[in-house]
Amino acid sequence: MSDWTSLGYLLAAVLFILGLKGLTSPRTAVRGNLLGATGMLVAVVTVLAGGGLSLGWIVAGLALGAAAGAWLALTVAMTAMPQLVALFNGFGGGASVLVAGAELHGMAVRGGEIATDIAVATAASGLIGMVTLTGSLVAWSKLEERWLSGSVRLPHHHWINAGLGAVALLLAVVVSAWPPALPAYWGLVVLAGVLGVTLVMPIGGADMPVVIALLNSYSGLAAAATGFVLANTVLITAGALVGASGLILTKIMCDAMNRSLPDVLFGTMEAGGAAKADEIYEGRIKRTTAEEVAMLLEAARVVTIVPGYGMAVAQAQHAVRDLADCLKRRGAEVRYAIHPVAGRMPGHMNVLLAEAEVPYDEMYDMDSINPLMHETDVAIVLGANDVVNPLAREQSGNPIAGMPIIDVDKAGTVVVIKRSLSPGFAGLPNPLFAADNTLMLFGDGKQAVLELVQALKGA
Ligand code: TAP
Repeated sequence: MSDWTSLGYLLAAVLFILGLKGLTSPRTAVRGNLLGATGMLVAVVTVLAGGGLSLGWIVAGLALGAAAGAWLALTVAMTAMPQLVALFNGFGGGASVLVAGAELHGMAVRGGEIATDIAVATAASGLIGMVTLTGSLVAWSKLEERWLSGSVRLPHHHWINAGLGAVALLLAVVVSAWPPALPAYWGLVVLAGVLGVTLVMPIGGADMPVVIALLNSYSGLAAAATGFVLANTVLITAGALVGASGLILTKIMCDAMNRSLPDVLFGTMEAGGAAKADEIYEGRIKRTTAEEVAMLLEAARVVTIVPGYGMAVAQAQHAVRDLADCLKRRGAEVRYAIHPVAGRMPGHMNVLLAEAEVPYDEMYDMDSINPLMHETDVAIVLGANDVVNPLAREQSGNPIAGMPIIDVDKAGTVVVIKRSLSPGFAGLPNPLFAADNTLMLFGDGKQAVLELVQALKGA
C-alpha cells in the first residue's frame, strides 16, 4: 500500500470517528453527518486512485447504486424510513457475503496457499453477512406488516436454531481449515440465510428495536471481516465502527426495554393476544372534542406532549410545533417526552421534531421527564400507545411487561389523540384509555392538532 493510500485511509478513519462523535448530540448531528460523508468520499477516492480496479465495472455499479438509492430516497414515505434502514443493513451484509465469496473464488483460481486468518475472515463474512441479509429482510417484512407480523414461532425453534447454528459453524471451520473449500463456503451462506430467518421470526412484540440495532451491528462486523479478506484498512475501520456503535445502540435499546440480550434472542415472548379494546373498555371511555381540550389547555401552566408512531403516520410534527408555539405565547411551558423506542426506529421522534425545528431544550428523555410528570397539567399523547401503556408495569404476562414507560398517568389530565381504540405495535389493549383522568380525542393526529390550534386561536 502506498503512503498516499495509507494517508487517505487514515484521514477517512479520522473523519468517520469525528462524524460519529458529532452524531451523539442533535446539535452537532448535521455536522457529524457531513464529516462522515466526507470521510466516505475520501475513502472511495483513495480506493479508486489506488488503481488496479476495472473502472468500467466500478462506474456501472456506482451508477446503478446511485440511481436505486436516489429513487428510494425520493419516493420513500417518512413512515417507511425504518424499513428502508432495515433493508440498507441487509444489503450491507449481502454485499459482504458476495465480495468475500468473489475473493475466495479469485484465490482458488490464482492457486497458492490461502492464509488461515484470511480464510477465517471469509467464513465470518459469509456467516454474519448472510444472517444480516435474511434477518433484515424478515425485520423489514415485520415493520412493513407485510407477510409477517408479531412473533412467529416454529415448533422447537430453539432446537432448530441450535442445529442450524452448529452445522453452519462446522462449515465455517471447514472453510477456515481447508480453504478455499468453495462448496462449504456457499453451503455456509445458504444455512446462514435460513438461520437469519429462523432467528428473527420469533422476535416480535416490542422487542424489534433491539433486533434492528443488533442487525445494524452485524452488518458492520461482516464489513470488517470482508476488510480483512481484502486487506483493506478503511473497510476494517468503518466496519468496526459500525459494529461497535451498533452494539452500544443494542445495549441502549435493551436498557430502554428493560430486557437482557439473551432474553430478546432466546426468551419466550408472551403472546399479545387479540385486543378487543372496544369490548374491554365499553362504557368507560370519555370522548372529548378539540374545543374542550382547548379550554383545558388555556388554563394549563405545564403541557407535556408525548409523541409516538402515530405522529409519524399523521406527519403531525409541524402542526405540533404550531400548537406548542401557540401555548407558549399564552404563557404555558411546553415539554416533549421522548421514549427511547417510540416510533419504529431509534431516534424516530427526535428526527421528526428536529425537522419541525422544535428547540432541543424542550425535548426530554424518559428518565428526565418521568420525575417531572406530576408537574404536568395536561399531557397530550399523540399517536403513542405501547410507550404509555401501564400494562408494562406488570412483571410478566404480556409482551411489554417490565418495559419502562412515560408516566403520563401522573399528569393532571391526559388527552390521548388517536383514531380508534386499536392497539399499538405489541398488540395489547391499553388501560390508560379508560383511566379516570384520561380523555380520548379520536381522529387523525395532524387534523386533531390543527383543530386544537384553531380552537385555541379562536378562544
Ligand atoms: P405504537 O404502540 O405502535 O402505537 C402507535 C399508535 O398510533 C397506534 O395505536 C395507532 O392507533 C396510532 N396512530 C396510527 N396512525 C395514526 C394517525 N394517523 N393519527 C393518530 N394516531 C395514529 O407506537 P409507540 O407508542 O410509539 O410505540 C412504539 C412501538 O413500536 C413499541 O412497541 C416499540 O417496541 C415498537 N418498535 C419500535 C422500534 C424502534 S427502534 N423505535 C422498532 C420496531 C418496533 P390508531 O390506529 O387507533 O390511530
